[in-house]
Amino acid sequence: MKVLVTDPIDEAGLDRLREGGHDVSVADEAAGEKLHAAVADAHALIVRSGTDVTAALLRAAPELVVVGRAGIGVDNIDVDAATEQGVIVANAPEGNVRAAAEHTVAMTFATARSIPQAHSRLRGGEWAKGEFLGTELAGTVLGIVGLGRVGQEVARKLDGLGMELVAYDPYISAERADRLGAELVELDDCLARADFLTVHTPLTPETEDLLGDEELARLGEGTEAGYLVNCARGGVVDEDALAAAVAEGTLAGAAIDVFAEEPLSPDSPLLDVDGVVVTPHLGASTSAAQENVATSTAEQVLAALAGEPVVNALNAPSMDASAFPRVRPYVEIARTAGTIATQLFAGRIESIEVTYAGEIAAEETELLTASALEGVFEPLEWQVNAVNAPRVAEERGVDVTESKTRQAEDFRSLVTVTVGDGERSIGVCGTLFAGEDPRIVRIDGFRVDAVPHGHMLVARNEDEPGLIGFVGTVLGDAGINIAGMFNARETIGGEALSVYNLDEPVPDELLGRLEGDERVIEARYIAL
Ligand code: NAD
Ligand code: MLT
Repeated sequence: MKVLVTDPIDEAGLDRLREGGHDVSVADEAAGEKLHAAVADAHALIVRSGTDVTAALLRAAPELVVVGRAGIGVDNIDVDAATEQGVIVANAPEGNVRAAAEHTVAMTFATARSIPQAHSRLRGGEWAKGEFLGTELAGTVLGIVGLGRVGQEVARKLDGLGMELVAYDPYISAERADRLGAELVELDDCLARADFLTVHTPLTPETEDLLGDEELARLGEGTEAGYLVNCARGGVVDEDALAAAVAEGTLAGAAIDVFAEEPLSPDSPLLDVDGVVVTPHLGASTSAAQENVATSTAEQVLAALAGEPVVNALNAPSMDASAFPRVRPYVEIARTAGTIATQLFAGRIESIEVTYAGEIAAEETELLTASALEGVFEPLEWQVNAVNAPRVAEERGVDVTESKTRQAEDFRSLVTVTVGDGERSIGVCGTLFAGEDPRIVRIDGFRVDAVPHGHMLVARNEDEPGLIGFVGTVLGDAGINIAGMFNARETIGGEALSVYNLDEPVPDELLGRLEGDERVIEARYIAL
């Protein structure tokens, strides 16, 4: 399959993809129409922060299964549009945490001791020893905005240098902050108490412009020499306000690795202020980090292309790799049970219940439920898969529930998909025989033994002599061969349900002929 790589990533990742048998095509200079043309037949797209994966780019890639982000931030990817299109988005959230944290520490020292400014003066021939009076980190207060993976690593490192830690992060507990030796406080308090403020949040509508004029003034007020460090995302700090705060002496300095627009324009006000240290988004630029994120992203892409769970998927069910072999055989059963249930129901579905019984009930079942939903919507929707099926259910207002029981009659495991509209419902239950043969073992309460495959006919009729012969004759007259059949009934002379495996599809006209016989209650063709 074709893997298109549009930002530079480490060779180790490319090698892993090639070893996996994929055709890797690198187009890291492509933009605009060239990029759209390059992605047209790609099954996977790998980017860093340089490629904007927009809804239009995704639409230009009808074969796309996965977008791999060799790094953490996905603010350059329209994850919503990807989900809508059934495309997995996966990132590599661990591989560059240490590099980003180390860069943050380096930038903190750089601004506290004016290292770049002194370096440049000395290279210019000036021995400006008397002009750079720095600030020691030990004994000062570090304010951390965003105490996630990078923020925590920075906390550990700067705690080790004797800084006092306060943190603002509305989504973590005070206990977690406490374990890192940080006091969890409100943003206002964090700004008032910090000498150094370091930002480690993603860029979201909530964090955009989180630190503007007022916040920077508050940071400056609380200290003799306030510094701001941002190695997270541009856009969280207002760049004009920051340049002004340093130029006017409200802040003693700033160190910035990330910008609202990248590459940074030479006209940026940040470049005019001597007290602002800048680097061109180098937080993750170490060879170890690049190798880590490239191989981790390649692993995600390989898994997605093989139809296996993608551990770091942001918009698709993921699961522990060691549990997947136990769950894998039921993925297809759940999907098939869903597909059969929808085709038998043939009406507007308002609720879907997926029931797990026996051993499978002890496993993580998010992926199975997504597959069951995929099966239910597949006959009704364009391009539905386990990524967008939960969204499709939500958008259609379909109520989805899961239930689990350890009791599985005489079976090891059963997966039942029941679709309904509040008045009527139909359940289809599947299992594996001998651990590998998929079987449908119950349809709407009737115990059956049907191989879910190809063309099937499910007929409900009165249990009368000659009825099976009648169905066989109608099919035979139309040249449709019966490959196998199973007949189930409630009581002698009561209602019966028969499942036929056929070699051909059954046209509507033939279903009409079957249903035209008063002994036939319903005849449904199922295409698998
Ligand atoms: P993370 O998801 O582990 O942590 C982010 C933290 O921010 C979370 O704890 C979250 O609760 C917190 N947060 C979210 N909204 C917030 C808000 N409104 N106010 C305060 N806190 C909020 O992410 P991470 O792996 O720690 O990465 C942090 C940032 O660093 C991301 O933006 C990432 O893209 C960036 N990053 C940059 C580089 C680089 O090259 N400069 C390298 C790696 C990561
Ligand atoms: C990230 O989000 O991982 C970083 O910004 C690193 C990068 O891709 O440059």
